[in-house]
Amino acid sequence: MKAPGSVNRHLQVAWHLIPGSGYVCRPISSGLRLRTGSEVLATKGREPGVEPWAERRVCMRGTLQILKALADPTRLRLLSLVHREELSVQELQEITRLGQSRISTHLGQLSAVNLVRARREGRRSFYRAVPQTDAETATLIKSALTGAEELPQAGDDRVNLERILQRRRDQAQTSFHHVAGRFGRVYGPGRSWQALGQFLLRIVPPLVVADLGSGEGLISELLARRCRKVIAVDNSRRMVAYGQARARRMGLKNLEFRLGDLQDPPLAEASVDVVLLSQALHHAEDPPRALLNGWRILKPGGQLWILDLLAHGFEPARELYGDRWLGFTEGQLQRWLEEAGFQQVEVSVVAREEVPPHFQTVLAGGVKPGPSRSRQRSIRRRAIGDDMNA
Ligand SMILES: C[S@@+](CC[C@H](N)C(=O)[O-])C[C@H]1O[C@@H](n2cnc3c(N)ncnc32)[C@H](O)[C@@H]1O
Repeated sequence: MKAPGSVNRHLQVAWHLIPGSGYVCRPISSGLRLRTGSEVLATKGREPGVEPWAERRVCMRGTLQILKALADPTRLRLLSLVHREELSVQELQEITRLGQSRISTHLGQLSAVNLVRARREGRRSFYRAVPQTDAETATLIKSALTGAEELPQAGDDRVNLERILQRRRDQAQTSFHHVAGRFGRVYGPGRSWQALGQFLLRIVPPLVVADLGSGEGLISELLARRCRKVIAVDNSRRMVAYGQARARRMGLKNLEFRLGDLQDPPLAEASVDVVLLSQALHHAEDPPRALLNGWRILKPGGQLWILDLLAHGFEPARELYGDRWLGFTEGQLQRWLEEAGFQQVEVSVVAREEVPPHFQTVLAGGVKPGPSRSRQRSIRRRAIGDDMNA
């Protein structure tokens, strides 16, 4: 059995590595010439004097390079490890007890034939096996990895790899163990209310929303990106004009501004899915009337939500912000919502400012059920002020 120089050596290695794989399992007769991939491609039919098994490999050169890379037991160990897990050179050092430069050289040779790939993370490089799309190369590597299990260091490598992976898991958990119980209050990179708000907005269904006391439409604008329609109501001409112009500029065709009073918004009965009163109810002369009319414009099953200030004693708010009410107690909001006919009423304090006067935000809401006609009539009468005139 003889073939030119190193080719012969590598073919013999392959024979050892992949018994039965069908690659190079036959003796090479003296004087046989291996053809390059392009020569094989250029040939139609079989030439006399060239063995059929030699023609099988269109890219013999590439195959030989892979075989050469796999022929070294150290490279095979490394490939076997990075095949199981992405690992840094330092981790490979710890597992194999080999020197750094030796590992790097072997990894370089494996990358040169596209068996491993490096990924940089800061100053470290992590290596992993490249998934092979070519079925024959994949079979070849699979056989080589099976062979790697027979290497004397295979058992130690497996144990050391598991130790490294356990250490990684422990490190990740340690930082979380440390903050468990106060995770919500400590700084978390990338965590912000803006980010959370953007996410929540993405899952808003295609609703029709009335934003009462909308101002220039900060919230309306965000909602309009997902909602079917948003009607922003404000009694300030300038706010409405500004909001309208801005919505037009931004191409938000489903955002409409209307001049009107939040206590009796210019919207048809049972026409919206959600009514929002964000920092607006404390400007109303008659908040219960605003809730009754909110109920009126909601479709059955619709929800009304209030974001407002919790009752506070900061008198300058009247002068500074034009507030009529110095916030509301949770009890007040609960009672008014229930009196307006809402069910599943929820009231809770959701935020507290760090700086004096430590304003707190209360979130209150309820659902409009499908009430009986007589109840609907009585609530409608109260909403339009008939009861007072009667
Ligand atoms: C503090 S801003 C809130 C704006 C917006 N909702 C927000 O959360 O950013 C209050 C808004 O309510 C409007 N407003 C006050 N009284 C109102 C009323 N009776 N009817 C309609 N809008 C009113 C004001 O013009 C102002 O734009």
